[in-house]
Amino acid sequence: MATKEKTVFFCKSCGNESPKWFGKCPACGEWNTCVEEKVVENGKRKTENGKLLTGNSQQPTFIKEITNAEEQRIILPYEELNRVLGGGLVLGSLVLVGGEPGIGKSTLLLQTALRLNGKKVLYISGEESQTQIKMRADRVGIQNENCLILTETDTKEILKHFKDVQPDLVIIDSIQTLSSPYVDATAGTISQIRETAAEMNKIAKTYQVPVFLIGHITKDGSIAGPKILEHIVDTVLQFEGDRHYGFRILRTTKNRFGSASELGIFEMNANGLREVTNPSEFLLSQRDEEVSGIAIAATMEGQRPMLIETQALVSTAAYGTPQRSSTGFDTRRMNMLLAVLEKRAGFRLNMKDVFLNIAGGIRSDDPALDLSVVAAVLSSNADIPIDNRTAFAAEVGLSGEIRAVTRIDARIAEADKLGFERIFISKYNAKGLDIKRFHIQVVPVATVYDLATELFG
Ligand code: TYD
Ligand code: MG
Repeated sequence: MATKEKTVFFCKSCGNESPKWFGKCPACGEWNTCVEEKVVENGKRKTENGKLLTGNSQQPTFIKEITNAEEQRIILPYEELNRVLGGGLVLGSLVLVGGEPGIGKSTLLLQTALRLNGKKVLYISGEESQTQIKMRADRVGIQNENCLILTETDTKEILKHFKDVQPDLVIIDSIQTLSSPYVDATAGTISQIRETAAEMNKIAKTYQVPVFLIGHITKDGSIAGPKILEHIVDTVLQFEGDRHYGFRILRTTKNRFGSASELGIFEMNANGLREVTNPSEFLLSQRDEEVSGIAIAATMEGQRPMLIETQALVSTAAYGTPQRSSTGFDTRRMNMLLAVLEKRAGFRLNMKDVFLNIAGGIRSDDPALDLSVVAAVLSSNADIPIDNRTAFAAEVGLSGEIRAVTRIDARIAEADKLGFERIFISKYNAKGLDIKRFHIQVVPVATVYDLATELFG
């Protein structure tokens, strides 16, 4: 069989392939992303891949003749995982689970495999030995007779075992350890990642079996390997969290079968991950005495309302230039809100240090957080606590106006359910809202100035 060896240059960022070295990627415009790889392609590849698909070649079909349009899903044992997948795992889908080393990706998927009753799962690991995996299974304390462990990295072998075992679900830990015999490059290189992911996709689609791929994340937070990996897969889930906090957030960043803004919460403890189904209660810090600088925001993460705590500390700058920093909230957005308070409501904050934090290591970009950030800053500045049964949900505009946000009724209902007594919203959201439905007092406000007066007189 004829073998061709060639040297190609890849862009680390977008996966663009070029026969020549480049300083700036001609496709995505990034600088210094060029890597050189040797690729040996042998003619065998096309025929074997072809064989995989024989009997399944598609014919053009009139759309009205296509039946079975509803995708079939496997309901996984974790509600939080089903949610981020858009309501269960679609048959034949390829799902990438990305995250930093040690965050709990292997634990999450092993637990899922072990708790999935009545389905045969093939867990393929190129990272750990069978004994290590067994030890982890013992640690999380779940027994399952239908879970098979395979330590293998060669995709051709994997396909062979896959055909023998005929599993209902495949888990690959991790995509960076796989290597295809049809590409002569080390595992983890761009050409290998691209090839092996495409092969796994073919298996998933041909046999209508869902495949989970675990993927590592580079220091700058992107999934190691080219963007092309994200294009190949159907769904991308990011597993993240602060290692100092016990809990982990699983976030959808791409989903062909559902919303891409969902979020699932887990807690890591001594015997594995536990799902957190009532995040609001979990995220609000338990405190009896009231302190200044704290305000609760009624946010939406995907389709789910969630109450989270914003904390601000405003103090006179000790040195010339005031410091501004924020964790969990966009710093530029915080600076904008501070400028609005300064200019539109006359608060002198320009010589103050301002620190902002979203409690629990959560990060959110819901615009409805604005009002609670403003309230927390004002409370810390005045050193007057806000009653801890008060919530906030509105966006703040550049002229200091309080703007409406989406799904206001879901936000109010959640705060109501958790026993909050008062919620501040935009007066534009109040129109047409049936507030009699709720016990909670709904306070519409029009400007940041109004808010300050309502809160602190
Ligand atoms: P792991 O799933 O190996 O992470 P990843 O696959 O993303 O690299 O998780 C490893 C971390 O989780 C490790 O620091 C130990 C911790 N852990 C627990 O705290 N409790 C447990 O029951 C397990 C299995 C792991
Ligand atoms: Mg792992």
